[in-house]
Amino acid sequence: MQYTDLVKKLKNKLSEKRFLHSVAVSKAAVELAQLYGADTVKAQIAGLLHDYAKEIPNNLLLHQALTFGIVMDDIERHEPVLLHAKVGAVLVAVECQMYDPEITQAIRLHTTGGKNMSLLDKIIFLADFIEPSRSFTGVEDLRKLTAVDIDRAMLFAYNHTLKHIVDKNALLHPDTIAGRNSLLIERPNLCYK
Ligand SMILES: [Fe+2]
Ligand SMILES: [Fe+2]
Repeated sequence: MQYTDLVKKLKNKLSEKRFLHSVAVSKAAVELAQLYGADTVKAQIAGLLHDYAKEIPNNLLLHQALTFGIVMDDIERHEPVLLHAKVGAVLVAVECQMYDPEITQAIRLHTTGGKNMSLLDKIIFLADFIEPSRSFTGVEDLRKLTAVDIDRAMLFAYNHTLKHIVDKNALLHPDTIAGRNSLLIERPNLCYK
């Protein structure tokens, strides 16, 4: 499917607000791909489609995860919204005929992060954080960091997410912790500032 067809398809799946967020993530992802030398076409598509399943109700997300043979953990069973990433990755392949494993992986990892993320995975993860409508405390620092050092920006984003989840007394997903650890093992110079 061409980008314009994907845009039309996505528009039918999402609210206006989330559709505009998706288009903004796609644009931010292209800019980061240009900056870091990643595939701009894949960044544009993965950015656009990353929240393809975000508005599917929890009971249906659980049902679809079971149907697609997605292995769920306890955290996802308690917070099915997390499944929008894994279910979305499958739906994008099935419904949009998008069989690119790099795009699939970037969509799958965009919420929790994970171990050994590719450049495209990091770009989609960060584009989701920094697109212009995002307004959390620290977003300007993250935008600046993303423009100079993508791994430092990933660490900032992981720290922000983990602190936010702890402050809410919510469940931490193990992939977020594993992703942060794997980043620090890859880039030991980022440890212990
Ligand atoms: Fe998402
Ligand atoms: Fe998003």
